[in-house]
Amino acid sequence: MTHPILITGGAGYIGSHTALQFLRAGHTVTVLDNLSNSSPESLARVQTLSGKPIRFVEGDITDPECLAQLFSNNHFAAVIHFAGLKAVGESVAQPLRYYQNNVAGTLCLLQAMDAANCRTLVFSSSATVYGDPQQLPISESAPRSATNPYGRSKLMIEELLEDLYASDPRWRILCLRYFNPVGADPSGRMGEDPQGIPNNLMPFISQVACGARAQLSVFGGDYATPDGTGVRDYIHVVDLAAGHLAALDYLLAQPQGEWLAVNLGTGHGISVLDMVKTFEAASGQSVPYSVVARRPGDIAACYADASKAHQLLHWQATLGLQEMCADTWRWQAQNPQGYRLSASAGDKKS
Ligand code: NAD
Ligand code: WQD
Repeated sequence: MTHPILITGGAGYIGSHTALQFLRAGHTVTVLDNLSNSSPESLARVQTLSGKPIRFVEGDITDPECLAQLFSNNHFAAVIHFAGLKAVGESVAQPLRYYQNNVAGTLCLLQAMDAANCRTLVFSSSATVYGDPQQLPISESAPRSATNPYGRSKLMIEELLEDLYASDPRWRILCLRYFNPVGADPSGRMGEDPQGIPNNLMPFISQVACGARAQLSVFGGDYATPDGTGVRDYIHVVDLAAGHLAALDYLLAQPQGEWLAVNLGTGHGISVLDMVKTFEAASGQSVPYSVVARRPGDIAACYADASKAHQLLHWQATLGLQEMCADTWRWQAQNPQGYRLSASAGDKKS
């Protein structure tokens, strides 16, 4: 069955890769995005790659009038809700902006959905809701906590979604807790396009490999991990996007409403040095690095128990670290300016 779907934040990194898979699966896709951290060029490429039209509404989830208009003019079978701000350090400096955008924005969205009788939602949560985990691998029943305003905004949204379902069991709500999304579409035409200095490991490594940055700082070499560097569960964005299709299928097949949370990860821990070595091999470039002090707030290791996603959603990650690095490199090498216009012009010539 195919359905009309609203994707908030669909012009962003994970949202655009997900929109591509939803179009390929035959769904009709409307994207609502305020372009605060993305470019409409990502959606142009989604259309080219899928060969299908996408409807784009430039608007804000904190704007009730925009939402009311969107929901009164359209019927959506479900909302896939990516829209949000995601930089941890920025959230510490600007907590009100993060709570307004992420928490108040989600409230506005839920009110508009309720008024329109659209009560099926897939929400972008994060492994950050596990705080500093007491046990590895991390299962969905592990205790939740937050160590910064970004993480707290995700935790607050999960909790308000639980309250909503408890008040009205017609809601079908699936919180997907992503581990560390990396990689790019294998076409090399879509990928992560961070503004300024990347906060995350993979985009930083790829900018070092292409010569845009001199070297990687490895944050801490003395963790209690096999090589002393931080361990994470990196998951290819193409696998992650497929997890949203599986989540939608699951929710729409349920005879009754439900609130649940499911991890999306591979279940494997990868160290910073593993990542550097694999990226060098995949790209044929060297990635100079030096080990520096730990980054405040970082944890030693984090990886998923991915069994619930397998059992319930019939989903599991299929792509490994080699593909994550090779696909990131293809995107980086072909689009050194990301989605900015100069890159786009060059892209069209090739
Ligand atoms: P992204 O910044 O690339 O995409 C988010 C999109 O939402 C952007 O296009 C942005 O313009 C849009 N947006 C932000 N605020 C908005 C608003 N008020 N109204 C409308 N649009 C708005 O980020 P991403 O990496 O694609 O992440 C998508 C979601 O997944 C986010 O909610 C993020 O918190 C969550 N998540 C991301 C990661 C990660 O490491 N990338 C990990 C766990 C969870
Ligand atoms: C990974 C590893 C670093 C950069 C963050 C958010 C989390 C989630 C994903 C949204 C760690 C090390 C990094 C660098 C390094 N986002 N590192 N040098 O910290 O696991 O998670 O993004 O929900 O909420 O906190 O990801 O990619 O920043 O770091 O050595 O320049 O790489 O110390 O061990 P993290 P990351």
